[in-house]
Amino acid sequence: MNQLVFFFFFFLFGKLCLCDPRATEAALICTNTTASITARKSFVANFLAVLDSFTPLIVRQRYAVVVKGSGDTRVYGFGECMKDLEQGDCNICFAQCKAQIMRCLPFQIGTRGGRLFYDGCYLRYDDYNFFDESLSETDRTVCATKDVGLSNETGFRANVMQLVRNLTVEAPKNDGFFVGSMGKGNNVSVYGLAQCWELVNASACEDCLVNAVSRISSCLPKEEGRVLNAGCYLRYSTNKFYYNSTAPPVGGNRGRRKLAIILATTFSTMALALIFATAIFFVNKKLVKKRQESKQLGALSPLLNKSKLNLSYESLEKATNYFSDTNKLGQGGSGSVYKGTLPNGKVVAIKRLFFNTRQWVDQFFNEVNLTSGINHKNLVKLLGCSITGPESLLVYEFVSNQSLHDYLFVRKDVEPLRWEERYKIVLGTAAGLAYLHEESKLRIIHRDIKPSNILLDEDLTPKIADFGLVRLFPEDKTHISTAIAGTLGYMAPEYAVRGMLTQKADVYSFGVLVIEITCGKRNKCFSPDMVCILHMIYIFELEGMESI
Ligand SMILES: *[C@@H]1O[C@H](CO)[C@@H](O)[C@H](O)[C@H]1NC(C)=O
Ligand SMILES: *[C@@H]1O[C@H](CO)[C@@H](O)[C@H](O)[C@H]1NC(C)=O
Ligand SMILES: *[C@@H]1O[C@H](CO)[C@@H](O)[C@H](O)[C@H]1NC(C)=O
Ligand SMILES: *[C@@H]1O[C@H](CO)[C@@H](O)[C@H](O)[C@H]1NC(C)=O
Ligand SMILES: *[C@@H]1O[C@H](CO)[C@@H](O)[C@H](O)[C@H]1NC(C)=O
Ligand SMILES: *[C@@H]1O[C@H](CO)[C@@H](O)[C@H](O)[C@H]1NC(C)=O
Repeated sequence: MNQLVFFFFFFLFGKLCLCDPRATEAALICTNTTASITARKSFVANFLAVLDSFTPLIVRQRYAVVVKGSGDTRVYGFGECMKDLEQGDCNICFAQCKAQIMRCLPFQIGTRGGRLFYDGCYLRYDDYNFFDESLSETDRTVCATKDVGLSNETGFRANVMQLVRNLTVEAPKNDGFFVGSMGKGNNVSVYGLAQCWELVNASACEDCLVNAVSRISSCLPKEEGRVLNAGCYLRYSTNKFYYNSTAPPVGGNRGRRKLAIILATTFSTMALALIFATAIFFVNKKLVKKRQESKQLGALSPLLNKSKLNLSYESLEKATNYFSDTNKLGQGGSGSVYKGTLPNGKVVAIKRLFFNTRQWVDQFFNEVNLTSGINHKNLVKLLGCSITGPESLLVYEFVSNQSLHDYLFVRKDVEPLRWEERYKIVLGTAAGLAYLHEESKLRIIHRDIKPSNILLDEDLTPKIADFGLVRLFPEDKTHISTAIAGTLGYMAPEYAVRGMLTQKADVYSFGVLVIEITCGKRNKCFSPDMVCILHMIYIFELEGMESI
């Protein structure tokens, strides 16, 4: 319990302490294949096995080298954190990276490999041994859009170039990693970081960085630049982005850290009560029902081959105008969503899933049959599916007002939500979750509660989207599910880092959601507005929980 309290504040005041996993994406680079579909299926299995074995290695040694499978379908995987990151940040960055590499899935037609560069960590998989590769054709240079904004930028250019050259000399001598800064005392300081991946030797590291230096110069005079090579990462910025492990960042941080500690102590009692209430509430009934329900599930075997739920791929393809971009509503972790009009005129939302391997199809259909029985006003209704075409498709009711995420953070054409409306959304979401967790016959853990998964209909009744799918994954493969479900900032810490999953993970995400709804701010950019946080705890504890 103490640990939970710690984590709660770790999250709330994450910005204030030294924890920044730098889980911002620098680039995602996917590569193509011409391999046959049959080969791809076992490639996929190996790919998932690779992802699965990463986490313990990262936790132990901060990098991971994994090879799975044999012959044509062998998959090579590599991951590493930047050497200045603390272990906890490293774990979080990597968890997020692992989830997002799914966007370069080998399931998608043609994809053969992928590289995901975060500013705090790196992940790559491919179909050949790339471990000591230093340069490749798909290496990338990423520059900021903003100029540094000086009338005479000669000095800035010189500083940047001297800095990156220095990093290039020092990094190969220092275990493949170096940070530094230039121009202290001037108005514009510049900071840099160079790192070569663990299996790249010193001479290859130097080659890689020398190449990076020549390319990063094209970013000048932008305020930030990165080169993302197969063997190394080089970045300069006018912001100090790295940690200097011998001395914690100076300046405002320490004072704010102190504040965070004070706040944490003051409110830990409240948090304790809050978490207690939450945990007890959700665990309580569950324990009673649990055994009996798992038996029921076993009895519901898939004898539903000719179900009316199964729609033809062709008709759904037509309904969405062949998945045209103009029909696209959005992109989620497990697939893209399109607006479609069925032959009978009904408007629906059609989700095109990334996953379509044989082993999942049966389970998938079974799942659809089960979850289609779920009917609750705060859950998006599943109308049908298609499992015969090249991709699995899911058909949902169309919810008119888009997502809570758009409503709160994106759209400028709508009035800010009134308090009663926010309250209604919080209660409705809670009711939907309680139904998933407790009242439905299936115990469903959503795993990805966040504003973009809460849809709003005309009168702003919230509807939870995307539930049920995660149950598709085999029981023992919790890491896979971890990789797919979950978004940094909403993931319960014990789930994000160790893959431990209970309903509490949803409750945690729900808590974050409530704060966001109340504050109208994304959790990414929380500033500790205490009135707001107090308000949230108040609603959450006194009213929200009682009326669920
Ligand atoms: C990869 O596939 C896409 C779409 O099929 C194509 O446009 C692109 O040129 C391909 N890239 C390579 C390197 O083959
Ligand atoms: C370093 O790695 C490169 C590329 O893999 C290789 O050609 C070279 O022989 C290696 N150098 C040493 C000293 O091991
Ligand atoms: C910019 O500053 C450098 C010295 O820092 C000077 O040599 C150069 O002439 C200046 N350029 C302009 C356009 O003022
Ligand atoms: C590079 O950085 C190191 C360590 O900060 C410093 O000792 C050295 O003088 C620098 N070299 C150059 C060429 O700036
Ligand atoms: C890191 O901190 C130490 C001690 O304060 C300092 O000597 C060193 O110059 C710093 N290094 C960088 C790259 O900022
Ligand atoms: C720093 O900025 C101030 C005004 O903003 C200017 O007067 C001064 O010359 C600048 N110093 C340097 C070293 O560029």
